[in-house]
Amino acid sequence: MTEGGRIRRGPFQAGEDVLLVSPKGEEHLVTLAHGKVFGTHKGNLLHDDIVGKEDGCRAWTAMGSEYRVFRPTYIQYVMNQKRNAQIIYPKDTGPILLWADVFPGATVIEAGIGWGALTIKLLEAVGPEGKVVSYEIRDDFAESGARTVRRYLGETENHEIKVRDISQGIDERGVDRVVLDLPEPWNVVPHALSALLPGGILLSYLPSTTQVKQLCDRFVEVGGFADPETFEVILRPWHVKGMSVRPVQWMFSHSAFLVVARKTQ
Ligand SMILES: C[S@@+](CC[C@H](N)C(=O)[O-])C[C@H]1O[C@@H](n2cnc3c(N)ncnc32)[C@H](O)[C@@H]1O
Repeated sequence: MTEGGRIRRGPFQAGEDVLLVSPKGEEHLVTLAHGKVFGTHKGNLLHDDIVGKEDGCRAWTAMGSEYRVFRPTYIQYVMNQKRNAQIIYPKDTGPILLWADVFPGATVIEAGIGWGALTIKLLEAVGPEGKVVSYEIRDDFAESGARTVRRYLGETENHEIKVRDISQGIDERGVDRVVLDLPEPWNVVPHALSALLPGGILLSYLPSTTQVKQLCDRFVEVGGFADPETFEVILRPWHVKGMSVRPVQWMFSHSAFLVVARKTQ
C-alpha cells in the first residue's frame, strides 16, 4: 500500500506494504523503504533487495535464511496490522456483504467506522457508482478509520464520515443498506426504518446473545421489518502436513452473530 492506495500488479515499489513470510511461515508486514532493513536472528534482509522484484519472489537474509515476499491480501493486511479497535473478522466480512446484499451502486450507511476494516470492503462492493456514509461517535476512530481507508484504497470521493452518534438519527433517505457494528443497535432501528428504502436491509454484528435478543425485540416493538434472520459463521481451519491431516487444535471459536432484517412496505 502507498498513500495512493493499494498497488495490485507490477514490481514492488518503495512505500508499499509487503508481507514477508519466514521459513517457518511467520508473517511480517513491512513498508518498503530504500536503505532500510528487516532484522532477523539470521541477519538483515535488505528492502532494496525486494524493491523492483515481482510478487511472490524470494529474498534472503545476510545468513541465507529464505523469505517469500507477497503483496498482502486483504486478510493478510488487516490481520497483520496494529489496530486500535476490534475489527470485523474476515470470516464474517464476506457473509456480511452477501447477507446485506451490498451491490454495485448501493448507498450504504455504516456505524461505527472503528479501525475501518469493514469500510474498505463496503466501498469496494458499492464501487464508484455507490456511496458509503460512516457514522462514528469518536473523533479518534473517525480519523483512524479515514486513514485506513485512504491507505488501502487511496482517495475515495464516494465515502463520507460523519462524527456523530447514529442513535440520534440518520440524515440520509432512500438508503439501500444499513450495517451496524456498535453495542446498542436497537437505538438505531427507528432511524434505519426512516432511512431505508422498502426492501432495504439492516444488518447488525453483535457479540452476545443478550444483544441479539434486545435487537430482535426492538424490531417487533418498532414494526416495519420482516422477521430477522440470525446466525453465526464458524470457520474451522485444518492442519495439512505430511500424513497429519486434521483440524487445528485451537481455533477462534466466536466473534459475533449477524442479525439481518428487511424493511417491509
Ligand atoms: C467495533 S468498532 C467498529 C469496527 C469496524 N466495523 C471495523 O471493522 O474496523 C465499533 C465502533 O462503533 C463506534 N460507535 C459506538 N457507538 C456508536 C454510536 N452510537 N454512533 C456511532 N458510532 C458508534 C465506536 O466508537 C467504535 O469506533
